[in-house]
Amino acid sequence: MKQAKDYIIFPLDVPSVKEAQHYIELLSAHIGMFKVGLELFIRSGHEIIKMIKDSGDVGIFLDLKLHDIPVTVKKGMERIADLDVTFATVHCGETPRMLAHAVEGSQGKVGVLGVTVLTSVSERDINNAGFLPEYSEDISKLVVKRAAMAKGAGCTGVICSGKEVKMIKENLGKNFKAITPGIRPAWNTTDDDQRRITTPAMAVKDGSDFLVIGRPIRNADDPVGAAKKIADEVEAVMRSVDCV
Ligand code: C5P
Repeated sequence: MKQAKDYIIFPLDVPSVKEAQHYIELLSAHIGMFKVGLELFIRSGHEIIKMIKDSGDVGIFLDLKLHDIPVTVKKGMERIADLDVTFATVHCGETPRMLAHAVEGSQGKVGVLGVTVLTSVSERDINNAGFLPEYSEDISKLVVKRAAMAKGAGCTGVICSGKEVKMIKENLGKNFKAITPGIRPAWNTTDDDQRRITTPAMAVKDGSDFLVIGRPIRNADDPVGAAKKIADEVEAVMRSVDCV
């Protein structure tokens, strides 16, 4: 059964194998999954993946956010499928073709997640990028449109803000996964580049399947304590949902 800690995906946003090893050893018993992004994958991808696998019963989310012509995305995803990871990402982009090729390349061996609209993007950014007012005035409409495209192409789920989970689940069903970065616990006081943020409790209450939480854990004086505090917050929501 899914435990509260399993909701937490910790991004290994560090530049060296040594630092990654530190967080893998520290957190593998307190979270559900490690996320490996471009910085670390370019440095030492295969070594890190092996290190995570050796660290215990913890998943791997390979967040390379592919975005290219369909055939190139498919071939990239075929190589990712060889790595035996749980999730991998592709940008939703402009066409369903790229997403469908990503799913084909995954061969059912890795869950393909579509990145809808990055959580660092604001309504003003969408307006400046030339989108129709319908979308720049309400990003969630663009997120849901892209999520529907991802579902239609056969993706396992999407990356979105906790603010959009409810809408995605209502429109696309409970089984279509919603993974939410931009999570900031109420006790986190530092401002950063994330814009469409929610607390862990808000995201889980609305149906988020996994929470990507980096800096609030990494920059805490006690990262294990921070992860445990987040798991406690999630557990309280899980209990209240069970009681309803
Ligand atoms: O919690 P924190 O802001 O530190 O987490 C940042 C991580 O979330 C980064 O690894 C970033 O790539 C990832 N992410 C994101 N927004 C998305 C998709 C992924 O912030 N839409």
